[in-house]
Amino acid sequence: MTQIIDGKAISAQIKDELKGKVAEMKEQGIEICLAVIQVGNDPASTVYVGKKKKACEYIGIKSLAYELPEETGEEELLELIGKLNGRKDVNGILVQLPLPKHIAEEKVLAAIEPVKDVDGFHVQNVGSLCVGKKGFVSCTPAGIIQLLKRYHIEIEGKECVVIGRSNIVGKPMALLLLQENGTVTVTHSRTKNLKEVTSRADILVVAIGKPKMITAEYVKEGAVVIDVGIHRNADNKLCGDVDYESVAPKCSAITPVPGGVGPMTIAMLMYNCVESVALQQ
Ligand code: GUN
Repeated sequence: MTQIIDGKAISAQIKDELKGKVAEMKEQGIEICLAVIQVGNDPASTVYVGKKKKACEYIGIKSLAYELPEETGEEELLELIGKLNGRKDVNGILVQLPLPKHIAEEKVLAAIEPVKDVDGFHVQNVGSLCVGKKGFVSCTPAGIIQLLKRYHIEIEGKECVVIGRSNIVGKPMALLLLQENGTVTVTHSRTKNLKEVTSRADILVVAIGKPKMITAEYVKEGAVVIDVGIHRNADNKLCGDVDYESVAPKCSAITPVPGGVGPMTIAMLMYNCVESVALQQ
């Protein structure tokens, strides 16, 4: 029987744990505040930002929303970040990606104070993850580790294959699996014999950005498959990077889309917001 990894349930569990912690912190006079910046009105970003604000509200974290027009200049955005960096009452700063083309993403992410970078995208936080020092970890890969741990799926000594090498998912995912003593291979669009490599995986993390690309022939019998992709197909239904119908019967465990990895990203963002208080002290 294939186990369906329920990200929605685990995310709810984590959010409830955090809600309790935030209530305790409030009793000690500690308030947590997250600033969320969106530039332009990319519909997907609006949905994600809305979910983040809703999660803050549920947990008891104050959120400040900055909805800036598409034509906002880079300097103006950097100035806002500078102000938020300096505000003692703001613990976390999140700039929703993607940014409009005229704004350099790298410059913006570098402007966020590393101790307020709850997305874990600042090079200092990425570097800390790389050398095993304390810091914020990118939410999606951190959420995947939580899913594996809370489902008691052992990582140590396992063949872990990551498809995709983005700064947000693939690379930090590889580092986290390595930290858990997995044997890690990172594959990407130039990998030769991809099927051969992925077929070795005990744990296969797919973050390739192509709808239903990973079919049963890429997957070893009994593997654990984690699908990071989220796409809308022609009839408006959501699907992942994994062809769920063909792959699920072959796995020991799999994340569905929706309801797998997606909700975990938000839960881990909330986790990082709560952690930010200790990091800032
Ligand atoms: N765009 C897509 N995923 C993310 C994320 O995790 N954080 C931010 N800030 N933007 C995103």
